[in-house]
Amino acid sequence: MTKEIYDYMYHNISFYRYKHIQGVVKLSIELSAIYNIDQTKCMMASLLHDITKEMSREQQLTILGKMEITDQLVLDTLALWHGFSASQYVQDHYKVDDLNVIEAIKYHTIGTNTNNDIFRVLFVADYLEENRNYPSVIKLRKQIGLDLKQLTKLVAKDKVRDQKLKDQTVHSNLLGLIK
Ligand SMILES: [Fe+2]
Ligand SMILES: [Fe+2]
Repeated sequence: MTKEIYDYMYHNISFYRYKHIQGVVKLSIELSAIYNIDQTKCMMASLLHDITKEMSREQQLTILGKMEITDQLVLDTLALWHGFSASQYVQDHYKVDDLNVIEAIKYHTIGTNTNNDIFRVLFVADYLEENRNYPSVIKLRKQIGLDLKQLTKLVAKDKVRDQKLKDQTVHSNLLGLIK
């Protein structure tokens, strides 16, 4: 299965994205060890989280059409589609059936308040992986080891700060994570 996924990525995903995914997988595995969370599930979620990110708008729309999405901000924002479309794609193409893995992928950009450690690991690893070198990320990376919920909150806070700076609409799920 993992080989099949890497093969697909090798042919369909840019080197830049591939490197990012490798970085997320690496940090997810480290985090799963630190926080004692299922390593295989963390690895699968991180390996697949951006699998649809470089698909065309049309391809993503076809996938999203199979889902019942009522979230208006997600529907209106192309950059937010890929978490949702990936969560469907991995079920259709890679037979992923673990609900926590599916949920982690679905909400890796906007966040979720459900008690899902696979999500927390992916959310943190996606932001702090080694290829991202913004000053705030470098600072946050030093907080690894802190309680996972706390670390998730710090990452969410920084995401909110960054999105506000860029004048982007912050999703209510993300705001929920920093309360
Ligand atoms: Fe993503
Ligand atoms: Fe990502």
